[in-house]
Amino acid sequence: MATTQSTSRGNWNSKLGFILAAAGSAVGLGNIWRYPTVMAENGGAAFLLIYALLVFIVGYPVMVAELSVGRKSERNPVGAFRALSNSKFFPIVGFWCVLCGIVILSYYVIVAGWTIGYFFEQIFHYSGWTEMAAWVANTDNGWLNAGVAIVFMAFTVGIILGGVSEGIERAVKYLMPLLIVILVVMIAYVLFQPGAIDGVRAYLLPDFSAINSDILLAAMGQAFFSLSLGMGALITYGSYLSKKENIPEVAGYVTLADIGIAFLAGLLIMPAIFMAQNQGVQVFGDDGSLIAGAALIFQVLPELFHNMGGVIGLVFGATFFFLLSIAALTSAISLLEVPTSYIIDEHKVRRKTAAILIGAIITVISVVIAFDTSLIGTLDFIFSDVGLPLGGFMLCLFLGYFWKMENAKLELGQGFASIDEHWFFPVWSVFIRFVCPILIGLILGRTLWALFF
Ligand code: PFF
Repeated sequence: MATTQSTSRGNWNSKLGFILAAAGSAVGLGNIWRYPTVMAENGGAAFLLIYALLVFIVGYPVMVAELSVGRKSERNPVGAFRALSNSKFFPIVGFWCVLCGIVILSYYVIVAGWTIGYFFEQIFHYSGWTEMAAWVANTDNGWLNAGVAIVFMAFTVGIILGGVSEGIERAVKYLMPLLIVILVVMIAYVLFQPGAIDGVRAYLLPDFSAINSDILLAAMGQAFFSLSLGMGALITYGSYLSKKENIPEVAGYVTLADIGIAFLAGLLIMPAIFMAQNQGVQVFGDDGSLIAGAALIFQVLPELFHNMGGVIGLVFGATFFFLLSIAALTSAISLLEVPTSYIIDEHKVRRKTAAILIGAIITVISVVIAFDTSLIGTLDFIFSDVGLPLGGFMLCLFLGYFWKMENAKLELGQGFASIDEHWFFPVWSVFIRFVCPILIGLILGRTLWALFF
C-alpha cells in the first residue's frame, strides 16, 4: 500500500503522512454536506453543542481504541477481532463493519458525484451556458447521478489500486489548507450579506429546549460519521501505522482538524441558508422542517457563488467544488479500503482484484440509489446514525472486556513512553469501559425503543 516497509503490510511514510491520511478520511462530505444539513434540521446551536461534546467524550476515545486495535493486529476489522480474541461473536461485528463500509460508500459516491456536477455547473453558469448549467445541477436526474457516481467510483478504485499513501498525503497536505482558506474567505463575505446575521445567531446561540432524543442520536451518528469511526476504517488505517507513533497525540490532531472544519462549514452554510430565505428561496417549511433534505448545500451554496459575480464568483465556486470532490475522494478511499483489505487479508485475493470486485459491487448499489435519492436518508439513518455507533459500542466492549485494557496499554505504550505516569491512560480506560458504552447504549437504546414500541 505504501512505500516504506516497516511492517509486512506496508506503512505510512511518516507521522505527518499518517495524520494527513487519517484527517483526509475524516474530513469529507461529512463536514461540509452532512454536518450542516443535519445541524440545520436539528435546531442549529443546540445540535452544535451536543455534537461537540460527543466528539470529545465518545469520538476521540473510540478513535484511540480503533487505532490501537488496528496497529496491534495489523489487520482489517474482521481479522483484527479474530486475531486479538478467540471470541466467535466479534468477527461478526467485523462483518457488520465491512457491510457498513459497502453501503455508506454506495450513497457517498452519489453525493460526491454531485460535487463534480456542481464544479461544472459553476463553469457553465459563468460561461453563459445556462441550460447546460441547469442540466448538470439536476440532482433528480437518475442517469446523471449514476454517471457521476461511476466516474467518482472509478477514481476511488484507481487510487486504491496504486497504493494509498502517496496520493492522499500529497492531496491533503496542499488542498486541505486551501479548503480552509476558501471557507474563511466565504464566511467573511457571507457575514456582510443581508439576513446572514440571523443565521449566525441560530448557529451560535443554543435553545436548550430544542434538545431531545432525536438530536442526541443525530449528533452521535454525525460524530461517528465525521470522524470515520464505528466501521473499522481507522482499525484498517491503524494497521499500517508505525509503532513509533503516539496514538493519543495523532488522534487528537485528527479530531481537532475534523471538528474545526465542520465548525467553519456550519458558519458558512447556516448564514447562507438565512440569506437564501431572505431572498425568497424557501428552505424551511411552515413547521420549521428543512425542505431541501440531502441536496441542501447544493441549493444554497451555488446561489452564493453566483451572487458574488464575475471572475471572483467563478474562481471561488469552481475551486470550492473541486476541493470538496478531493475531500470526498480521500474519505471514499478509506471507506473502500475496509472491505478491500478484508478480502485481501482473509481470502488472499490480490489487491487489484479485490478493489475492482468490491468497487463493482458498490457501483451496482449506487446505480439503484441514483434513481431514487430518497434512499440516501433511509440508508444513512440505518448504517450511519445507528450502524456506526453500534460498531463503536461493540469495539468498546471488545477492548474493555475481551482484549483487555492491559493489552491496549502495552500497545499504546509503543510511541508513548511516559504512559505509566501520564493521566491519559486511567482516564481513557474509564471512558472505554464505562462512559462511552453507557452513553452510546442509552442513546441507541432510546432510539430503537421509540422506533419499535
Ligand atoms: N468521515 C467521512 C466524512 O466526513 O465525509 C466519511 C466516512 C469515512 C465515514 C470513513 C466513515 C468512514 F469509515
